[in-house]
Amino acid sequence: MQNSLIDTYKRHINYLRISITDRCNLRCIYCAPGMPIKKMPHESILRYEEILRLVRIGARLGITKVRVTGGEPLVRKGCCDFLEKLTRIRQLADISLTTNGVLLKRHLPRLYEIGIRRLNISMDTRSPEKYKKITGIPAFDRVWGSIHTAMEMGFSPIKLNVVALNGINDNELADLARLTFSYPLHVRFIEQMPFGNQPPETRQPLLAPDIRSRIESIAPLFPVSREANDGPARRYRFSAAPGEIGFIAAVSQHFCEQCNRLRLTADGRLRPCLLSDQSLDIKTALRNGAADDTLAGIFLSAVASKPRKHGLRCGCTPPSGQMGAIGG
Ligand code: 5AD
Ligand code: SF4
Repeated sequence: MQNSLIDTYKRHINYLRISITDRCNLRCIYCAPGMPIKKMPHESILRYEEILRLVRIGARLGITKVRVTGGEPLVRKGCCDFLEKLTRIRQLADISLTTNGVLLKRHLPRLYEIGIRRLNISMDTRSPEKYKKITGIPAFDRVWGSIHTAMEMGFSPIKLNVVALNGINDNELADLARLTFSYPLHVRFIEQMPFGNQPPETRQPLLAPDIRSRIESIAPLFPVSREANDGPARRYRFSAAPGEIGFIAAVSQHFCEQCNRLRLTADGRLRPCLLSDQSLDIKTALRNGAADDTLAGIFLSAVASKPRKHGLRCGCTPPSGQMGAIGG
């Protein structure tokens, strides 16, 4: 099928990240640091049927890959039924879920049954105490338990997202990388992205070259060849290790040239770039009874307004709000 979603810089946009809720059961320091969170009012959150209609329109325009995120998607009732309906949209070749893993275990059988295999799970530490410090909730054992069950059931790839946090988990990055010697996990190290609500003192990110040199102190890393649907992570593995290591250098080497994504926020806005506050309201038109063509036009406008690249390295203001409300 032809992709109509081509932006001004000739990037083909085929990947939609959908945040189904701004609610989360954790309070990660890099996402929602110790502050009361302004929740989106219930009626402003898109209903599942509304999201499905938008995804079908996007799929006709060229979206083939969808990731469901939050907040924490599994805190929203009916998430698995929604995912099942997504699997019936025939253009979608790849549907995945990003979760913090706290509620994952009980949902795994259903997720498997409906054909979801790709999971991204946040796990920034191997220490239960540090997990509580980072997320505010003592849920390490539950999350690690879910990851084990998911591996046993045959989910693959299972990606562990590790945000590298100066002074918090930086002494543990090598240990997290060592997990790939024992398990077929993809451990991905993510540079902490600045967001408007983070306390300024935590905004000094640990950058990918530094992270990588800590990990290479264990053993040499070998590049893994890229695959068609790869995201921005650069992929490596240790010799003979079943798992992989990835680096997401969101701040130091922006991957904007290959950006193929668009975001749909829980309150019904299309957001062309994660790291810019600009977004287009698609909900108002949707709720005012707009025809599919009109909504398709809003998709095209969002794609047309995708910035060439983000401005994090040129001293521009970081986006406001919190990651959880945007969907990562
Ligand atoms: N910087 C980098 N990654 C972040 N995430 C959330 N906030 C940030 C941030 N400030 C990541 C989490 C989660 C994913 C959805 O987004 O690791 O896995
Ligand atoms: Fe794309 Fe924006 Fe991310 Fe750059 S910062 S890769 S343009 S979403």
